Amino acid sequence: MDDERLGVRVGVQPGPAALDVGVHLDQRDAGPYAAPSMLSVLLTSITCMGPTLVLVPVAHRPENSVAPAGPSHYRRPVEIRDLALDDLDAALGVRSRSFGPLSSGDVEQWKSMVTRAVGAGRQLAAYDGATVVASARINAFGQWWGGRQVPMAGIGSVVVAPEHRGSGVGLALMEAVVERSRALGFTLSALYPATTAPYRRAGYELAGVRRTVDLSTDALRRLPGAAVKLRRGAAGDAEEVVRLLAAQARTRHDSGPFGWEAAEISVDLADDEVLTYLADDGVVSYGFAGDRFQVHAIGATSPETLRALWRLVGSGSSTQATTRVALGPSDPVFWLLADNEVSVASSQWWMLRLVDAAAAVAERGFPAGLTVEVPVTLSDPLDPAGSGTFVLAIADARGVLRRTDGPGGLALEPRGAAALFAGTPVATLRAAGLATGGEPAHDALLDAAFAATPFMTDYF
Ligand SMILES: CC(C)(COP(=O)(O)OP(=O)(O)OC[C@H]1O[C@@H](n2cnc3c(N)ncnc32)[C@H](O)[C@@H]1OP(=O)(O)O)[C@@H](O)C(=O)NCCC(=O)NCCS
Repeated sequence: MDDERLGVRVGVQPGPAALDVGVHLDQRDAGPYAAPSMLSVLLTSITCMGPTLVLVPVAHRPENSVAPAGPSHYRRPVEIRDLALDDLDAALGVRSRSFGPLSSGDVEQWKSMVTRAVGAGRQLAAYDGATVVASARINAFGQWWGGRQVPMAGIGSVVVAPEHRGSGVGLALMEAVVERSRALGFTLSALYPATTAPYRRAGYELAGVRRTVDLSTDALRRLPGAAVKLRRGAAGDAEEVVRLLAAQARTRHDSGPFGWEAAEISVDLADDEVLTYLADDGVVSYGFAGDRFQVHAIGATSPETLRALWRLVGSGSSTQATTRVALGPSDPVFWLLADNEVSVASSQWWMLRLVDAAAAVAERGFPAGLTVEVPVTLSDPLDPAGSGTFVLAIADARGVLRRTDGPGGLALEPRGAAALFAGTPVATLRAAGLATGGEPAHDALLDAAFAATPFMTDYF
């Protein structure tokens, strides 16, 4: 790509119709994302002139991006701000026109969840004048990476009203979501994509898989092991459930699973349809799902408790022949059960974005015993302050990104940086056009540093 034409649409709310501003950026000597990052600086400086300016990029296109949509693309200026509580019904309407209607019981649950998110500054909406045309929620999670928990913004319910789709609203909303996530202190963001293209445009990349398996409930019933005392979970157990699930993720050095806030777990504990049982060092939460069981979460730090929790679920084998559960690829149950007692039911990718790369590297765990010093060059149009050349230094299972004036290293835009963070081999990133430059001899060191097979067990 020799050069690239860009444009921004500038609208003032309330005010006259939007104005297109053409920009021509020469990027012959720059990387593929240089133009968007310059655009980002331009947008930032214009935004400073007044809080009500609305800016929508007319076109910016990194290498390895999806094909442009039709001619109506990027037309509509919208204002992105917190959803107003008065607009809950309007937001529900956009949601229903995107995912289908909710049952009346689910509507109440949805409203109370969104109300909690609004109160925490985690529910953004796109407004066309006074009309809600899109919204997205930021769930507050802590995601495990190398056995340490990193604040993660789990993005859910991204919806754009059908008549506003294909006009840049979704991308503008996601860019605002990333910036809000950073302002709220999240250093990572993850989501399950219904389609990857809009999220890749916002810097997300495939990172891991949520895989559900069907287990023979009777095989669980027959697992050998000593009896372990279990008790039924009660309303006040939310913090204990958080602690028990965290202990398992830490012990197993997991990468990918995340923990819910205690407030959300309390909702499950109060729900008669969710069966929660606790031991001193483990917990299981499950329920009926048609003719099978669905395990929502299971975790234990001792093998005895883990088997006892599975046997508890297995005790229902006379009515539910199958138990469905999302598990990581190294879950011990695969080593406990025979192959004809386990079958894969579904597999779904999730995507990751680094919201604050330096903080995410400092917060996650790295392999013990590994010492690495490798330069990397990051460029993020949504984080100019976090862009530049750094030395990635790893020692004592901790990492740091130290800014350097030295020579650049492997060059990564947000998608490549996210995929590397999630353990994607550098050779794969190079082949996919998501990493360039650097010293090929350093690739193996980066692979060793970020090695992981990330998974998730929860859906959001
Ligand atoms: C998916 C959705 C949020 C995208 O919003 P949008 O406003 O239409 O997206 P934008 O116009 O900002 O498009 C952003 C990019 O994504 C691409 N894109 C948007 N929808 C797409 C789709 N359904 N399939 C493939 N690419 C798509 C666009 O082409 C554009 O990429 P480009 O600039 O490289 O051409 C919207 O279509 C929607 O609400 N769909 C129904 C609900 C849903 O699936 N939500 C997502 C849940 S994860």
